Formats: sequence, structure tokens, C-alpha cells
Amino acid sequence: MRFTLWTVIIPIILLLVSVVVVKWINYVDVESYYKDKRIILTGASEGIGKDLAIRLSQLGARLVIAARTESKLKDTQKLCQKYSQDVFVVRADVGKEEDNKLLVSEAVKHLGGIDILILNAAYSPPPTMFTDYEDPGETFLGVYKVNVLQGVYLTKFSLDHLRESHGTILAVSSMSGWLGLPMFASYTASKHALHGYFGSLNMEFQLRQENISVVIMPLPFVYTNRAVENMKVKSKLMFEPGITSEDCVERMIRTLPLKRLYCYITWDAYFIGHLYSLCPYWFDYSATYFMQMFSDAIK
Ligand SMILES: NC(=O)c1ccc[n+]([C@@H]2O[C@H](COP(=O)([O-])OP(=O)(O)OC[C@H]3O[C@@H](n4cnc5c(N)ncnc54)[C@H](OP(=O)(O)O)[C@@H]3O)[C@@H](O)[C@H]2O)c1
Repeated sequence: MRFTLWTVIIPIILLLVSVVVVKWINYVDVESYYKDKRIILTGASEGIGKDLAIRLSQLGARLVIAARTESKLKDTQKLCQKYSQDVFVVRADVGKEEDNKLLVSEAVKHLGGIDILILNAAYSPPPTMFTDYEDPGETFLGVYKVNVLQGVYLTKFSLDHLRESHGTILAVSSMSGWLGLPMFASYTASKHALHGYFGSLNMEFQLRQENISVVIMPLPFVYTNRAVENMKVKSKLMFEPGITSEDCVERMIRTLPLKRLYCYITWDAYFIGHLYSLCPYWFDYSATYFMQMFSDAIK
């Protein structure tokens, strides 16, 4: 084949056209999408959940926000009420079945139904090697209850309302839902479980033609207080390993309406999700190396 200028220009044009087409296909008018949407959001007392609550109320959504610390939830509520009065607080421990039942009934009482269920609350114990736990089983169960059973119970109690609204369940996950992460075994296992559970549930909804969408969103590293503390990220890096919570929320809000089973908000999350199964040894090696570099907790 003869090399001409066109052999360079044509692929560039094709690439640009495909970028425009992809942007166009994925464009969502978030203002009209979220306006008056009735949303349950767990884990809204701090971190990503708090920023998500504020942004959703800016967009005109009607919210019931939940967590265990009522005072912090009320702070979130105050910030949201600058934009919308329809923000209600429910103190709930999402690891407990009865609290999840109460959360759904309060949401229905205040909002009259549920359009979106956002399972954002999560518990990640401080980084610890398996061999340093006195009772790793108890820790695992504690994490599992919050990170996984939350979704099981809230889905069960909201099912009729989600059916009625053709609603969406958003399971907030992590890249550690794909790979192993040393010193975070329980958290990692719980996010793997979330993928398995909601992936299966999605198929069941399709088999029964339920018209309920399931979205699993494996987030990259986000600079929330707890995550920074847990990862002990130092300024040893030549690159930014994560994104800010505000940036994360903006991306979540734009990708959720696409209702893909797996919604990735960054390219690294996308590639890790897809490449892990091809070369798990390489990823495991990299994760171990990463932890050695950035964690003070490894002895
Ligand atoms: N930050 C990251 O780098 C990152 C990366 C990937 C995925 N994620 C995921 O993103 C979500 C939010 O993370 P984040 O960093 O914002 O977490 P965070 O700052 O630790 O906040 C966690 C939230 O969950 C609530 N929560 C914890 N246990 C609870 C329980 N038993 N019942 C009710 N609420 C409970 C907390 O409130 P109370 O303590 O008041 O109950 C808090 O509002 C999580 O699902 C996490 O797995 C985060």
C-alpha cells in the first residue's frame, strides 16, 4: 500500500467522528432527567453520598437521605434545602433489616413512591492484614451486612414501588469489585458479592420482564476523607491516583441515566474492569506494588 497524507488524515477524521457520535449518543439532559425524581440515597452523611445529595437537589430531585449519624445527615439536609425543600432525613443502619424497612416506608410516605434507589453507604474497616485479625469472620460479617445486605433488603422492600415507576437501582461499587486488594479483603469481597448479586438480579428482572433497571457503578479512587485515611495516600506520586468527590458525583449523575448494567465513570475503571480477566496476575502484582508504595500499614 502506498503511504499518502490521506492514510493519516482519514483515520483521524474517523476517530473524531466516532468521538462526536459517542458523545451525542451518551448525551443526557440531566436537568430534565432528575427533575422531580423520587430518590432514596444511603450514606449521605458524608463523602460521595453527601455531595451526591447536594447535586441531586440542585437538579430538582426529591430525596430521602439515610445514614446512622443524624446530626451529619441534618447538615447535608440543610445544604440541600438551599435548592429544594423536598429532602427528608431518615436515621438508619442499613445493615439492619428493620431499619431498611423503615427507610422505604418513610420514603414512600414523604415522596409518594420511588424512582431511583441509590445504594451508596458502605463500610470499609481500616487496612489490616488477614493474619492480624483476631476474628476475621466477625469483621467480614459486619462489612457484608452494610455493603451487601443493604442492597438485598432495600431492593426487597422497594420492589413494588420500583415496578410501578419502572425505576432504577444503583449499586455503588469499586474497582475492587473486580480485583483483590491486600488489607481490604472483606471490603473487596463485599463489592465482588455486590456485582454477583445485582448481575443475577438484573437477569431475573429481564426474565420476568420487570422493567426495573440495575446499574452497577465501579468507582475509581475518590478523595473522600475516609478513603484518603484508609489508603494513606502520600504525595509520593507523579500522577493523581484519584478524582475529587465533586467530579465523581458529576460523572455519576451523567452516566446513571444511560442505565447500563456496568457504568464506568472513568477510563481507568473501564479498562481495569475489562482487562482483569485477561491478565489477573499482572493486576494482582500491580495492586500489591501499589499498596507497598502508598500504605504505611504494611509491616
Ligand atoms: N472513596 C473512594 O475512593 C471510593 C472508591 C470506590 C468506591 N467507593 C464507594 O463509594 C461509596 C461512598 O464512599 P465514600 O468514600 O463516600 O464513603 P464514606 O465517606 O466512608 O461515607 C460512607 C457513608 O456510608 C454511611 N454508612 C456507613 N455505614 C453505615 C450503616 N451501617 N448504615 C447506614 N449508613 C452507613 C456513612 O454514614 P454514617 O457513618 O453516619 O452511618 C457515610 O455517610 C461507597 O459505596 C464506597 O464503597 C468509594
